[in-house]
Amino acid sequence: MNSESLTLVATYRRTIQASLERIWENVRDWEHLPWLHRYSFSSIRLLDQTPGSWKAQIIMPPANAPREAVIELQLDPAHLRYWSRTLAGLGAGGEILTCLKPLDEQTTNIIVEFRVPGINAKQAEALGAAYLRLYARLWDEDERMMRRRQELIDTQRIGVEPRVLRKVKSYE
Ligand SMILES: [Fe+2]
Repeated sequence: MNSESLTLVATYRRTIQASLERIWENVRDWEHLPWLHRYSFSSIRLLDQTPGSWKAQIIMPPANAPREAVIELQLDPAHLRYWSRTLAGLGAGGEILTCLKPLDEQTTNIIVEFRVPGINAKQAEALGAAYLRLYARLWDEDERMMRRRQELIDTQRIGVEPRVLRKVKSYE
């Protein structure tokens, strides 16, 4: 992929009500795409996975005219950023960079940059607007899920019964 020819078509900024830990967990979790984001992804098949990346084939709606792509997520936790690159299929050559900035334990700022190869200014504007709509929805869905998950984790942490059970088990 020639990154020289990529055009920045949009930048999405948002404050997310979730910790850095919940967000990284979500980025690594390739399996959630077709169930949490079912309007955007129909199915996913993992092709490769390392501690810092995953690659998968995704199918996108509509069901009667499905579109396909191979995407790769590459994490750079040391610099609080990750890339989503489309290696083949719909949007091939495109690159989405997300930078994370924790504000406190439950709040994280995100800046998402969308870069697309080989397009003119008019196409860039339309595609940029489409990406902003898509990502607003994806992050709405992710944020709702992460807040719910955080609630469950916090509740379990103060729950008495699981601790008692664990303690009993440790004496066995
Ligand atoms: Fe997600």
